[in-house]
Amino acid sequence: RVKPCAFIDLEQHNDERGNLSVVESEWTAGFPIRRVYYLHDPDPGSSRGGHAHRALEQLIIAVHGSFTITVDDGERRARYRLDDAGRGLYVGPMVWRDLSDFSEGAVALVLASLHYDEADYYRDYEEFLADARRPR
Ligand code: TYD
Repeated sequence: RVKPCAFIDLEQHNDERGNLSVVESEWTAGFPIRRVYYLHDPDPGSSRGGHAHRALEQLIIAVHGSFTITVDDGERRARYRLDDAGRGLYVGPMVWRDLSDFSEGAVALVLASLHYDEADYYRDYEEFLADARRPR
């Protein structure tokens, strides 16, 4: 199991009208939410991600449909199927991630701890591995 990744069950308010799930900045996600973006209308068969972050923390929720997130901390790899809008996957810093196997019309909501900063990305896997395996 990749250590800095885990499912987080969201606060639920479900009744006969349907379901309502809540994310409170800091309380649910464990970090202040500074940015929200979402992946939608995936091209069939496409994959995304293919990078890691130096400092960014994220909570990723399949608000519609399903997809798979493969995470890799440089030592171990794990796969999570996101198919429940009532929970999110926390992905911490220094985790390489790939998103794949999107169901048709799936929507991936991403709550992020920092504003967009290209300097926070590792886009080269070998460079990521070298830093992830370096003793701190
Ligand atoms: P990228 O992070 O590669 O997407 P994914 O992780 O889903 O594969 O981002 C795709 C493009 O969008 C890239 O040119 C950077 C840009 N982008 C922003 O400008 N702001 C953002 O907040 C995000 C997430 C991406």
